[in-house]
Amino acid sequence: MPAAGSGCGRDVKQGKQFDGMRFGVVNSVRQNKSDTAKEFEFTPRDFERVRGLIYKRAGIALAESKQEMVYSRLARRLRATGIRSFEAYLDALESKGDDNEWEAFTNALTTNLTSFFREAHHFPILAEHVRHRKDPVSIWCCASSTGEEPYSIAMTLCEALGTMTPQAHIIATDIDTNVLNTASNGIYAIDRLDKMPPERAKRFFLRGKGAQEGLVRVRPELRQMVTFKQLNLLADSWPISGPFDAIFCRNVMIYFDKPTQSKILARFVPLMKPDALLFAGHSENFLYVSDAFKLRGKTVYELDPHPTGARHALARRLEKTL
Ligand SMILES: C[S@@+](CC[C@H](N)C(=O)[O-])C[C@H]1O[C@@H](n2cnc3c(N)ncnc32)[C@H](O)[C@@H]1O
Repeated sequence: MPAAGSGCGRDVKQGKQFDGMRFGVVNSVRQNKSDTAKEFEFTPRDFERVRGLIYKRAGIALAESKQEMVYSRLARRLRATGIRSFEAYLDALESKGDDNEWEAFTNALTTNLTSFFREAHHFPILAEHVRHRKDPVSIWCCASSTGEEPYSIAMTLCEALGTMTPQAHIIATDIDTNVLNTASNGIYAIDRLDKMPPERAKRFFLRGKGAQEGLVRVRPELRQMVTFKQLNLLADSWPISGPFDAIFCRNVMIYFDKPTQSKILARFVPLMKPDALLFAGHSENFLYVSDAFKLRGKTVYELDPHPTGARHALARRLEKTL
């Protein structure tokens, strides 16, 4: 199993990022403790088992360096289930087939770092792309995490189309059911808007008062533009239907190996309108794994009407007929 997924910064599951519904507590005592004596035994074999299971289930290829992260995130599952060793926890997970525990295991191992208008250069490109569309605009955000990305898309559509209720719909999906709940509530700590121009913040968010002081909520019009759904990019069938004007697939492919990336990209093609755009994360390059796309701009792709593979096949056919 190739090791990937080392990127994406801090471990938000340590509670350093406010997720809208609960304030995470950084458990520094436990973190320090893990440097010395561990609460639970965690052997290299346990780590390999976790790597294999999450790879099979979510396509996430955990790097060798992620042992501490895996320990601290799954130790919480051991405490929650009352199981006293990683070996017994993994045995129970595999033998009982408990869907809830599989969900909790998967949620614990995803990394959900995101922000409003992350990779800001994408949004003017999206605005230009949708501005003169005749049909309702349809967009898929396929690793939407806690919702900042699909709401940024929704804000961009409102601004580009000059209304709070544009003819537009965003389907926002993620494998992690916890982040989807947060996204669906649309409540954030006010400092998540620090980098947003005040006019934009005022137009699209409501400020909490009293017990909600320090929080903001996305306006209902914005919330109504987005449907949140669980979707595992590795699953055999996806509960969505295109065609889409754009797909946002940002900062998730880095967790997958190349064959997995290639399969997912091939499945995007029939879901895209002929002139649709595909937005990737800053460190993701899809040209190495698929010939179905060509680069439109920095980390923005469009369908290549003459993919290299098809061009080569055509050239070979022509050679034979000459
Ligand atoms: C680092 S976040 C990126 C969030 C957002 N796209 C952005 O760029 O800000 C990666 C997200 O991918 C999700 N993810 C990981 N594996 C997945 C899978 N197999 N299917 C769907 N989503 C997955 C994680 O739950 C996480 O929320």
